[in-house]
Amino acid sequence: MSSARKILVTSALPYANGSIHLGHLLEYIQTDIWVRFQKQRGHMCSYVCADDAHGTAIMLRAELEGITSQQLIDNVNAEHRADFAKFLVNFDNYYSTHSEENREFSELIYKRLREKGHIATRSITQMYDPDKGMFLADRFIKGTCPKCKAEDQYGDNCEACGATYSPAELIDPKSAISGATPVEKDSEHYFFKLPDFQEMLEQWTQSGTLHEQIANKLKEWLEVGLQEWDISRDAPYFGFEIPDAPGKYFYVWLDAPIGYMASFKNLCDRRDDLEFDDYWKEGSDAELYHFIGKDIINFHALFWPAMLEGSNFRKPTAVNAHGFLTVNGQKMSKSRGTFIKAQTYAEFLNPEYLRYYFAAKLTSRPEDLDLNLEDFTARVNSDLIGKVVNIASRCAGFVKKSGGKLSDNCAEQAMLDEAVALGDQIAEHFENREFGRAIRLIMEIADKANQYIADKAPWALAKEEGKEQEVLDICSVGINLFRQLVTYLAPVLPDLSAKAAEFLNLDNLDWDSRKELLLNHEIQKFKPLMTRIESDKIEAMIEASKEVLAEEEKLKQGPATTGPLADDPISPEIEFDDFAKLDLRVATITEANHVKGADKLIQLTLDLGGETRNVFAGIKSAYKPEDLVGRQTVMVANLKPRKMRFGMSEGMVMAAGPGGEEIFLLTPDEGAVNGMRVK
Ligand code: 2FM
Ligand code: ZN
Repeated sequence: MSSARKILVTSALPYANGSIHLGHLLEYIQTDIWVRFQKQRGHMCSYVCADDAHGTAIMLRAELEGITSQQLIDNVNAEHRADFAKFLVNFDNYYSTHSEENREFSELIYKRLREKGHIATRSITQMYDPDKGMFLADRFIKGTCPKCKAEDQYGDNCEACGATYSPAELIDPKSAISGATPVEKDSEHYFFKLPDFQEMLEQWTQSGTLHEQIANKLKEWLEVGLQEWDISRDAPYFGFEIPDAPGKYFYVWLDAPIGYMASFKNLCDRRDDLEFDDYWKEGSDAELYHFIGKDIINFHALFWPAMLEGSNFRKPTAVNAHGFLTVNGQKMSKSRGTFIKAQTYAEFLNPEYLRYYFAAKLTSRPEDLDLNLEDFTARVNSDLIGKVVNIASRCAGFVKKSGGKLSDNCAEQAMLDEAVALGDQIAEHFENREFGRAIRLIMEIADKANQYIADKAPWALAKEEGKEQEVLDICSVGINLFRQLVTYLAPVLPDLSAKAAEFLNLDNLDWDSRKELLLNHEIQKFKPLMTRIESDKIEAMIEASKEVLAEEEKLKQGPATTGPLADDPISPEIEFDDFAKLDLRVATITEANHVKGADKLIQLTLDLGGETRNVFAGIKSAYKPEDLVGRQTVMVANLKPRKMRFGMSEGMVMAAGPGGEEIFLLTPDEGAVNGMRVK
């Protein structure tokens, strides 16, 4: 093998205001497979990522949840890390763009660009929410379409008739944040002069850094000519303030890719064997790859290389764009239950199934990939259980019976030689991100191995007298082929391969180590490596996805206990009869538990004086379950029971406050008895 390469790899930084779903995972799994492959080949490869923590959307989401932006991004960071770990996505560093390193690099890059004259300022007119005191991006303005008169359309285009327009053209525009009528207002903005880099980009985009289809698309854009890029946003904004520009912040997309550098710097500071400059200085011989979705190609293949060039850093070796994930041939859909969160998937299915299926279908082209759930089940069961695992499970017992050591000779040298040789082609496919091709070759080996074992039928021979050595020889061929297979599958199936390495009694499955066959080698007892996918699990996952998202929608609107009450519309006046319908009762919380898979809920058992009720309350941000037990409170006892994903909720406890940490459960005075009616 050629000498070790220095490689730095990134995946796009997920926004810190939402959960990881299967669409995201396509990219992280693709990148992780590639990185694991490079490491297995002995290269010095680092994989960094981070949460994309800035911007208006994050600020507003935190507000909705009644927490600070910092709290939101900390919570989401912990959730994202846990999700990635479940799917065996093995970052060398997972950081946040809201970090000191990122602030420093963002300022440094900006100042270098400014020194070289690549920054311009000018005043622009934008829509402004006078109630909220903030400028509004187009998607935060709604109104009636000026063309077809459809109501409730966004500020830049109409979903009903497809018209595009400026927010000023909307009829009766309203701020989607406060409901106020926006006004036009001027403000000074900072621009990155992208046209300064036209020539460099024409050359760079066509120099093998991008897939041909993407390069052609960019060529068209470059022919039209580049525009200056607005990189500033006015306060209030969650981000970094621009140096020498009080009240102006870097637009989230300016500091997001710089987050790749910041995450890597943070890693280098903890590692003696990595030097930041080796990877990022101009002329560096290290390789730098960004894996992204095709929708964000302009940021990575135009703005980003131009920013790097203008601030004397190296540019990426390549930007690898993939297409979108569809499920059962259609866009992921909340109502169909195919908008599946990583967490929900992992509750029902083994993450390695998905890693395998994605690998089997991934190419280097920026085309969409369909997760067809029937095909997924059939393919995983047939390939992984029926073919790969089957080889070991058919052979292991006979080897154990003959003493646990593999034969000291290889009965089918040509077959093993072929499997070893195929490793070079498989490696080439992994290197070129043609994972589907790699998997096809791997499965060819598995088919041959199964055919061989079926033809030789060691189970029949084992019944004959004096055939022990022959049986051992056959099964040793089988186990050696299995070893080749798990070596090749290790980047895709790290857990299965680690278990297989234990069974094979091997320290590692380095790519080159496969060349030395296992002869006269002791193996361990075989334990089942993977079980079949059961289709009822898939159905349960789909149902759970529908429920998770329905619950989220409800929480977005805010149940009484978690919603920011201050923002609630004023409740309409009600008649006494309406009030009388409420059956409010004193109750004691006799049990309180965390709810697996629910961020906001606590499960309460309430004693109403003889009768008990199960209630899910959205008060986790303010209370620890253990602090609630024994406490009296007031509940709505005649609320129609609601079926939630976690069980039935039979009522609601009453609390005041804006949400977040400020939720205050109502408590009756001492002496109140459970079951007493509150009047
Ligand atoms: O599109 C997105 O989800 C962005 N958060 C990706 C950022 S990638 C990089 F530039 F930081
Ligand atoms: Zn319209």
